[in-house]
Amino acid sequence: MFASAGGLGLYARFLEPHWIRYARRSLPIEGLPTELDGSLLVQMSDLHVGPEVDSDYLIGALKTVKSFEPHIVVFTGDFITYRSDSVLNELSRVLRFWPRGRIATLAVLGNHDYGRAWNEPKVAAEVARRASDAGIQVLRNGSVEIKGLKVVGMDDLWGRQFDPASALAVGGKNGARIVLCHNPDGVDRPGWDGYSGWVLSGHTHGGQCKPPFLTPPRLPVRNKRYSSGEIDLYDGRRLYINSGLGHLMKVRFNVRPEVTLFRLSRA
Ligand SMILES: [Fe+2]
Repeated sequence: MFASAGGLGLYARFLEPHWIRYARRSLPIEGLPTELDGSLLVQMSDLHVGPEVDSDYLIGALKTVKSFEPHIVVFTGDFITYRSDSVLNELSRVLRFWPRGRIATLAVLGNHDYGRAWNEPKVAAEVARRASDAGIQVLRNGSVEIKGLKVVGMDDLWGRQFDPASALAVGGKNGARIVLCHNPDGVDRPGWDGYSGWVLSGHTHGGQCKPPFLTPPRLPVRNKRYSSGEIDLYDGRRLYINSGLGHLMKVRFNVRPEVTLFRLSRA
């Protein structure tokens, strides 16, 4: 028995944290322009570049994503785990390998991008600047239109910059849209009036360790339904929570790191 418990411990510590699941799904979008039908949108989340995550592991994942030649690449926050400015330099090194979408490369920020206690806007500005230098368009309560599909990016909830009403207001409410929002709890905040469609999130890492058939014991969200995967919000919105590539503590059990490969289709 001790041998098998030890084996599980070794698995959770050394194997699963780097065993990426490339999840293939369809992403049906109402009013999607025909030109984008069948396009590949890759979502990555929660890299957490810093002292806890092996950068070479992350770079390997970025190279694999590049090999898929995606049309759109989105990142849903937590580029880093901030400890000091050396983390920012390490981020720049990792960003050199960032896969560009053939049409667009987009990101939003997460709470960890806001530094210690999520309270260092200067760190967030520096993360955004370095990402932008690497060819990533960082949406901070803003949106961008790509071939008739509008991608809206919320700034971070715990970073106290979350403003869905402003983000959604830009450019009107009509047409095909998707939303990037790091923290899934953001969907329960006011300001979403009139939005229906997908919200792509991260933040939870799926809880990192999950007993079979049960809710993960450590979920950094108020609404414990928001663990991982697809969740119907029953108001015209559907949430997808990516389990992230990195980690806070290097341990994962029954929640493999994830890259999501979405095939866009007309709903
Ligand atoms: Fe995270």
